[in-house]
Amino acid sequence: QDPRIQKIASAIRVIPDFPKPGILFQDITTLLLDTKAFRDTIDLFVERYKDKGISVVAGIEARGFIFGPPIALAIGAKFVPMRKPNKLPGEVISEEYSLEYGTDIMEMHVGAVEAGERALVIDDLIATGGTLCAAIRLLERVGVHVFECACVIELPELKGSGPVGRQTTVCVLVNAAGV
Ligand code: PRP
Ligand code: MG
Repeated sequence: QDPRIQKIASAIRVIPDFPKPGILFQDITTLLLDTKAFRDTIDLFVERYKDKGISVVAGIEARGFIFGPPIALAIGAKFVPMRKPNKLPGEVISEEYSLEYGTDIMEMHVGAVEAGERALVIDDLIATGGTLCAAIRLLERVGVHVFECACVIELPELKGSGPVGRQTTVCVLVNAAGV
């Protein structure tokens, strides 16, 4: 394993019982305060994705907006925000997805991507994988090929890479097993 990954893992703060009892929250804001670990996080993804023909980095609101843009700039791809409903002002396409309780909607601007483009999907964390699957469906509906999904953290107990892995590969830096 790359020696930078242990430092990245240590910079992520784990907060018990947030936002509700029984949840161990993975707080990436402390990673953002550690300039070396934050840079290493971006660099690891850039090293993996440069020169792969990726023209689109799709970042998922909200925390995918933190990691996506620096990766997009470094690999020479455009950044496309995948947003919560009723935030984007132009014409959108929408995809509904399941949460632990109820459903949510993800939206992308029509015209942000073109059929035949190759995309990387970025988020901070994969739990059940429902969020990433919705992003993949949105991109594939408009003919974009999803090269891979990349997350800083995985919660392996929730087995999210199972459903996502049926569509594409998932690259994760930090495994939050047994924290
Ligand atoms: C969290 C996290 C991922 C998603 C993962 O976002 O940032 O986007 O949940 O869950 P899943 O794999 O079970 O779909 P959240 O919806 O809490 O919102 P935020 O990023 O806007 O804070
Ligand atoms: Mg999120």
